[in-house]
Amino acid sequence: MSTGTEHVNGLKILVVGASSGIGRGFAIAASQRGARVALAARRTDLLAPLAAELHGSAHGLDITDSSTIATAVSEAVAALGGLDAVVLTSAVVPFAYISETEVTTWLHALTVNAVGASELIRAARPHLPSNSVILIASSYDVGRPAAGVGAYNASKAALNELLRSWRAENPDLGIIRASVGPTEGTEILRGADEELLAELLSSWSRRGQVPAHMSALVDVANTLVTLVGTAHAYPSVVSEVVHLAPRWPGRSTESVS
Ligand SMILES: NC(=O)c1ccc[n+]([C@@H]2O[C@H](COP(=O)([O-])OP(=O)(O)OC[C@H]3O[C@@H](n4cnc5c(N)ncnc54)[C@H](OP(=O)(O)O)[C@@H]3O)[C@@H](O)[C@H]2O)c1
Repeated sequence: MSTGTEHVNGLKILVVGASSGIGRGFAIAASQRGARVALAARRTDLLAPLAAELHGSAHGLDITDSSTIATAVSEAVAALGGLDAVVLTSAVVPFAYISETEVTTWLHALTVNAVGASELIRAARPHLPSNSVILIASSYDVGRPAAGVGAYNASKAALNELLRSWRAENPDLGIIRASVGPTEGTEILRGADEELLAELLSSWSRRGQVPAHMSALVDVANTLVTLVGTAHAYPSVVSEVVHLAPRWPGRSTESVS
């Protein structure tokens, strides 16, 4: 496992979306490198054992519900004794052809993937000291949507734009947008209609849109941890937009347990 504790050791980090995938991997990697973590998401049954393992805390939060965001942020600040960084990986991918995407689906995607990020920053803002860091996961696919992910891509494009507004009005905040690329071992396809997904995969394959390679979860997680640590250590610089692309060959020898 990685031992790169430099800049990360002792950081107090709230990880929202920590119940699975990249958020979970981030929490584990950050903890292994000496950070103290508070974990948030809806599935507290998954968060609690992980928090116990990482000597952290678990907080129920629905990113569509501002009151749960405010409560979870307050609880996390109390548990950590302050806040150095907030990381958000929560997202929903409502697979649907755009011609069949209903208003409720549009609003849900926008609420989870875009407005939720702004609400989280709004709640965390008063607790963040001047060299603190906010890392928000977006998608490398913004600007090149494949079939069936219109609402997801549009909501991530909205996310990217609202982060620009946060920076414009809060130049002291170190806001990193990590445009995540194809990453294996996550639950991003959870809940998708299997028949529709098979149809979409076949269409993506015909158009050459299925990634030939994916990044290892542990490598993506550690890359994000390094970004947070570096931005905190060198507060006059922030990597505002970072694209994570799969690199091949480049198999990781590590895995997220
Ligand atoms: N994996 C990829 O290939 C890929 C590619 C491009 C971009 N990304 C981006 O990377 C980030 C992480 O994705 P992932 O692949 O790790 O997906 P994942 O395993 O599905 O994790 C998503 C997380 O979002 C949380 N979440 C969903 N709805 C929520 C809500 N209403 N309130 C609070 N939390 C909620 C889930 O927790 P609960 O269900 O417990 O609430 C889960 O912890 C996302 O922003 C995604 O768009 C991933």
